[in-house]
Amino acid sequence: MKHHLTRPRFTRRLKIVFSLGLLGFAAVMNAADTHAFKPGELWLDAGGKPINAHGGGMLYHQGTYYWYGEHKEGPTTTPACNKSWGGTRTEMVGFHCYSSTNLFQWKDEGLVLRAVTNDAQPDLHPSGVLERPKVVFNARTKKFVMWMHIDSADYSAARAGVAVAEQPTGPFTYLNSVRPEGQMSRDQTLFQDEDGTAYRIYSSENNQTTYISQLSDDYLTHSGKFVKAFAGRSMEAQAICKRDGKYYLIASGCSGWAPNAARSAVADNIMGPWTELGNPCEGKDAQTTFAGQSTYLLPVAGKPGAIIFMADIWKGDDIASSRYLWLPVRFEDDKPRIRWEKSWNLSVFDH
Ligand code: DGJ
Repeated sequence: MKHHLTRPRFTRRLKIVFSLGLLGFAAVMNAADTHAFKPGELWLDAGGKPINAHGGGMLYHQGTYYWYGEHKEGPTTTPACNKSWGGTRTEMVGFHCYSSTNLFQWKDEGLVLRAVTNDAQPDLHPSGVLERPKVVFNARTKKFVMWMHIDSADYSAARAGVAVAEQPTGPFTYLNSVRPEGQMSRDQTLFQDEDGTAYRIYSSENNQTTYISQLSDDYLTHSGKFVKAFAGRSMEAQAICKRDGKYYLIASGCSGWAPNAARSAVADNIMGPWTELGNPCEGKDAQTTFAGQSTYLLPVAGKPGAIIFMADIWKGDDIASSRYLWLPVRFEDDKPRIRWEKSWNLSVFDH
């Protein structure tokens, strides 16, 4: 039987079809939207909660990225011992881990190392400082090894802590802390080379010099082989990557939670000599690293040479509301270059 629609019914159907079309379009746009990095904007995990992984590092293991970072919550205070330099803090909670296969959507894997109030492990007491976790997988021992910055509230302890896990999502068992090479150790990162050798790169000598120490074969101790790099250059927030056989470092200066101009450097050998290449950031706000501070240089799996600059936008007066700044690193004339992008995705590496 033929249906002849009356004019109002026809208009209603047309409206429904149009609305459904709009909804579909919005859904597609929304999906595309979740696949864009938006530096400085609130970044929610797959459960809709803000990602809480500051000063972070990344492990890529068997097709999955694991993002480890400082869990920051609660009020920001300035302890009496830090009044002279305005060193604000939040109570230590632990390190948070998230997992992802696409770098945009992150599943909450929970706290993988927690602060503890018992006397057995004073390094992890909530009154202390726990920062900049970095994790590597040791293919020989099949263990996930995490190094971190352990400190007292006034940052005078300046130690390197190590923990180990059977799974990337932990839980990590805390082992101990050291003053490597008999020196202070604060901001730190790890770098695992293609031959499996791992290195720890850290601010030492009261943050004046960056040390690069080769780790033992099991990654649990310092091997004793180390160099002092960038003497007197006062760097923090070191991050290292390798590209076309060269090692690149991006770091910050030292100004507490306040942003400063980033530095970059290149070397043919990770143990040096290193050649400084200046501020890798360009354009407006390059002098303050777009309000951020480096934390990791992330190679994108499946895209040779593609590196993401991972940084934190710290809020020194409300540390728990700090955010993230991820930007693509472009290599031009063998120098890393970072420019502000309001919104971007991995296709920037395709051209
Ligand atoms: C700068 C460091 O890079 C951060 O990780 C943190 O330790 C702050 N200083 C504390 O003021």
